[in-house]
Amino acid sequence: MSTVLGIETSCDETGVALVRDGELLADVTATSMDEYARFGGIIPEIASRAHLESMVPTLNAALDKADVDLAEVDAIAVTAGPGLIGSLTVGVSAAKALAYSIGKPLYGVNHIMGHVCVDELVDGRFPEHFIGLVVSGGHSSILNVTNIATDVTELGGTLDDAAGEAFDKVGRLLGLPYPGGPHIDRLSQVGNREAIRFPRGLTVGRDKHDHPYDFSFSGLKTAVARYIEGLTDAGKDLPKEDIAASFSEAVNDVLTSKALNACEAFGCDTLVIGGGFSANSRLRELAAQRAAERGIKVRIPPMRYCTDNGAMIAALGWELVSNGVEPSPMDITVDTNMSLDTIHF
Ligand code: KG4
Ligand code: ZN
Repeated sequence: MSTVLGIETSCDETGVALVRDGELLADVTATSMDEYARFGGIIPEIASRAHLESMVPTLNAALDKADVDLAEVDAIAVTAGPGLIGSLTVGVSAAKALAYSIGKPLYGVNHIMGHVCVDELVDGRFPEHFIGLVVSGGHSSILNVTNIATDVTELGGTLDDAAGEAFDKVGRLLGLPYPGGPHIDRLSQVGNREAIRFPRGLTVGRDKHDHPYDFSFSGLKTAVARYIEGLTDAGKDLPKEDIAASFSEAVNDVLTSKALNACEAFGCDTLVIGGGFSANSRLRELAAQRAAERGIKVRIPPMRYCTDNGAMIAALGWELVSNGVEPSPMDITVDTNMSLDTIHF
């Protein structure tokens, strides 16, 4: 039996969770998101201070909920990157102090792999080989995974904006509150997806050939901005729902087709989707529909595990422990741009 404590502080959520042999015992999250609506974006300094204040209460709440004593913890996993430097530093410092005080191993892990790994807590162990699609505010990547603890290759990623970031920027253009992603999702459900044909980046000709698994959403964002400008200059009302639905369709069309193409090209019958953006209703619908047409199984965790949380980090820590992976040295630092070649330090 091994009990892993997971700590996540890469952005605005302070998450602490406990996983014992693949079973989630507790998952507690505090967030400072409410403080950013008036700024239209996260303020890193506020986020770091909020982590400092929330760390100990969140840890205690998770231990209480799991009914686990700190001394019973066998390993501590913490997000070492990518993320905001101050936010990451609070989590890694706390994890080091805890590991040192109880004399247990420390694992500094990659946040992005955590977004994939959390699905195991819900849908059971991964198959031997699968494709991962991680979509969040900061990342849109396609991963080829044979072992989530030891063998992950990035097939492609975004060359400019991540999917969530593009949604947040278009949200701003439409005058929606920050973060725009969930608001665009809501509007798009009542809009016409075919009203406006927005561009699908890197999907045709040479671009497609050279970048089969890469994404580019900045041209799309500019096309939306031009469309809005055109209507505004002509003094016309904005069909917000149709813009949201057509824009959302362009993003989700590209995400799902490239991820499913990767499944076929690499002979995988399973696609695992994770990250904050995987809460998107059209992504979930389109992925399920297109995967079924191609005989591919899609695994997407429930909404509460899509946004940042401690469970994803505890799940990845548990995979590292069960695969007998060497712990991280106690002097690890954080890596704001941690590459997808690194599963843990
Ligand atoms: O993974 P996450 O919580 O944080 C990062 O690591 O970035 O992802 C947050 C991102 C934000 O850009 C947010 O707007 C987006 O995910 N998001 C959504 C939805 N829910 C969250 N985007 C589209 N539709 C949603 N339902
Ligand atoms: Zn995330």
